[in-house]
Amino acid sequence: MLRRLYHDQPETFAFTPANQAWAEAQMTKYPEGRQASAIIPLLWRAQEQEGWLTRPAIEYVADLLGMAYIRALEVASFYFMFQLEPVGSVAHIQVCGTTSCMICGAEDLIAVCREKIAPNPHQISEDGKLSWEEVECLGACANAPMAQIGKDYYEDLTAERFGEMIDAMKAGQAPKPGPQNGRFASEPLSGVTSLEEYAKNRISENASVQLASTQNDTLRRIDGSEVPLLTPWLSSAKSESPRASKSRGKTSTAIPNPDPTPPKVQPAGKKPATLKAARKSGADDLKRIKGVGPKLEKLLNSLGFFHFDQVASWSENEMAWVDQNLEGFKGRATRDNWVAQAKELMSSQETDVI
Ligand code: FES
Repeated sequence: MLRRLYHDQPETFAFTPANQAWAEAQMTKYPEGRQASAIIPLLWRAQEQEGWLTRPAIEYVADLLGMAYIRALEVASFYFMFQLEPVGSVAHIQVCGTTSCMICGAEDLIAVCREKIAPNPHQISEDGKLSWEEVECLGACANAPMAQIGKDYYEDLTAERFGEMIDAMKAGQAPKPGPQNGRFASEPLSGVTSLEEYAKNRISENASVQLASTQNDTLRRIDGSEVPLLTPWLSSAKSESPRASKSRGKTSTAIPNPDPTPPKVQPAGKKPATLKAARKSGADDLKRIKGVGPKLEKLLNSLGFFHFDQVASWSENEMAWVDQNLEGFKGRATRDNWVAQAKELMSSQETDVI
């Protein structure tokens, strides 16, 4: 399927302050210089904030992670979890149409979509609330046919149940995710044949369903008003969110005990010695360092770096400072090992002089 940026794009994008803090916290999961690894959660968060992934949002995330726009676009256009055009304001329904689901009735589900939402995939319903598309296998073949809506899987569907769910969503309700025929997970339809002692003691819903339901996080969008920010790796839990507390009263499932105010990531390292201007001999061509283009060279000059010997002398701590201050290119100095490159360029310059 051809996946392109939508023809009509907004001018700008910015994370809400809460989402910005969440995004910066996600970036701390990865070693310095590897922040690009956070691309998928950040794009997903941007999509949850806006409903779909706009070009300014992709570029905003790329800037935040110090990535070239094309790299971020490659990720956004590859995974069909990312919606590159506007979707229904309540939900976008992805019906699996691959073999198991097709054999078990996916075509009937698609007929329901055509009837109750819109005749064509990616067409938004007249009330603006829903849209749909057919996607490839979502890995829940044992519970075919199924559909993904937002973060959740709705499995063991029938056309009738699917129709009821769509009506409920239109009416502002969030149907409970998971198997829709009473199955716990993907055990045999006729009942468990092994591990029966566990089956006897289990609670009524599987953990994914329970977590989605108790956190009330099914169709809801992430708009910055929600608590908590789930960043438990940044600090030990100090307080419990009202939502987690409420859900604890209802079930025995352990919900991560989050810190609602994660610390903002502080710039690390020590500022290296800088110059106000290039020496009389003229600035070195910093673009000879692999990964440094005209924009980055300008940025380095504005920070007070004009010469290879300056770059070559950075300690690890100083490189960390530079990495943090390369707005839009964070992490590049470490990633592309500028210090080693600058040392090599210096020695080749000396050889040229001889
Ligand atoms: S075929 Fe539908 S989930 Fe795999």
